Amino acid sequence: MNPALSKLPVSDSWAPDSWQQRVALQQPRYDDASELAEAGAHLAQLPPLVTSWEVLALKQSLADAQEGRRFLLQGGDCAESFADCTSPVISNRLKVLLQMSLVLVHGMKKPVLRVGRFAGQYAKPRSADNETRNGVSLPSFRGDLVNSPEFTPAARRPDPQRMIQAHAHSALTMNFVRALIDGGFADLHHPEYWDLAWVEHSPLAAEYRQMVAGIGDSLRFMETLAGPIAGFSKVDFFTSHEALLLHYEQALTRQVPRHPGWFNLSTHFPWIGMRTAALDGAHVEYFRGIRNPIAVKVGPTVNPDQLLPLIDALNPDDEPGRLTLIHRMGNAKIAAALPPLLEAVKREGRRVLWVADPMHGNTESTSNGYKTRRFDNISGELDQAFDIHASVGTRLGGVHLELTGEDVTECMGGARDLSETDLDRAYKSMVDPRLNYEQSLELAMLIVRKSGGMA
Ligand code: PEP
Ligand code: CO
Repeated sequence: MNPALSKLPVSDSWAPDSWQQRVALQQPRYDDASELAEAGAHLAQLPPLVTSWEVLALKQSLADAQEGRRFLLQGGDCAESFADCTSPVISNRLKVLLQMSLVLVHGMKKPVLRVGRFAGQYAKPRSADNETRNGVSLPSFRGDLVNSPEFTPAARRPDPQRMIQAHAHSALTMNFVRALIDGGFADLHHPEYWDLAWVEHSPLAAEYRQMVAGIGDSLRFMETLAGPIAGFSKVDFFTSHEALLLHYEQALTRQVPRHPGWFNLSTHFPWIGMRTAALDGAHVEYFRGIRNPIAVKVGPTVNPDQLLPLIDALNPDDEPGRLTLIHRMGNAKIAAALPPLLEAVKREGRRVLWVADPMHGNTESTSNGYKTRRFDNISGELDQAFDIHASVGTRLGGVHLELTGEDVTECMGGARDLSETDLDRAYKSMVDPRLNYEQSLELAMLIVRKSGGMA
């Protein structure tokens, strides 16, 4: 055993499978234990998707964000699907995230840490284990990592082989993103690479183009003086997903030759969802033993007496960059729910990165049956989040968003003021409604305004 291992702040009883001794919420019921064991063993042999070097580099960057030297932009689909593992979907999502980060870098005058909700975001928590239609009851759809959305017994049966398929689709996604970035797609000299075909009709296009032209001028000016600047032709891009299906995460939890401890190498930055964040639950048990930077979603019913022990369990040594708390309160609740949490963490002097998810507390259903979110509620929650942090004396260090580069109509309002009837036009999400391109850019401009920069 590597001697450094004995110095880790992990108690002896932790192991990649010690979560199995706890109550694991939101897991499917696999009907064949040997099939599950076989898929897990197969997965454990496959190469990881990320490396420990990248994971530790991200942790360092998150530590910088905690100190206010960077801002975290984390975004992507609510749920990825195998069917959407295509060139246009992946590159358009990357384009939106790159454009937003350009707006943020330019306006906030600080580096932006880009983290995608992709290459592994294939498992979803559900409010009920079963879904009943016309008297027929079948297991709920839990994401492509578990089963298939069609309402038939075969499609809804949890299939452990899907873990292998999810790993493969994550690897395909990751490979394409890495190749685009390494090949110069993210080059600041060529922001036109990121233009989406339909952007020219956007009411925000002129403002965005003007900003891009300004950046191009500055870049040319600096390079005339100093020669080509290497850092501008590449960006870092990290991945994250909700580490929900613990058999999958366990199989990708590895030790490596050069760094002590255990790493979840299915993603750089896994998070615990709101429904699975119980202190004595399986997810907290699993997460406390991995060395990745980790995040936890914090909803409006959490109080300081619950949050502080969670911080102790997940980051007992107050390690920089280790723990991000993503609050997702809702526009109507944030003013009452957030301040006590911020005050308690500040009072205890705990080191966390606070991030706002203005999406998940603002989901509603329309009369015609769509799950939607109003742009005004999303921007309203974000707007309040900045003010609340400022008044408590804490720092909002990032945002967590559900967005897509596709021209969808899933959230209402925004630059084009989408209405309830517009939702019929291009509602494609399998789960939660996402910001489209324009709504995403508009939100980026709002962030810049709220953080004191100019957009
Ligand atoms: C999500 O991020 O898609 C999600 C389910 O969020 P939460 O756990 O905050 O509800
Ligand atoms: Co969601």
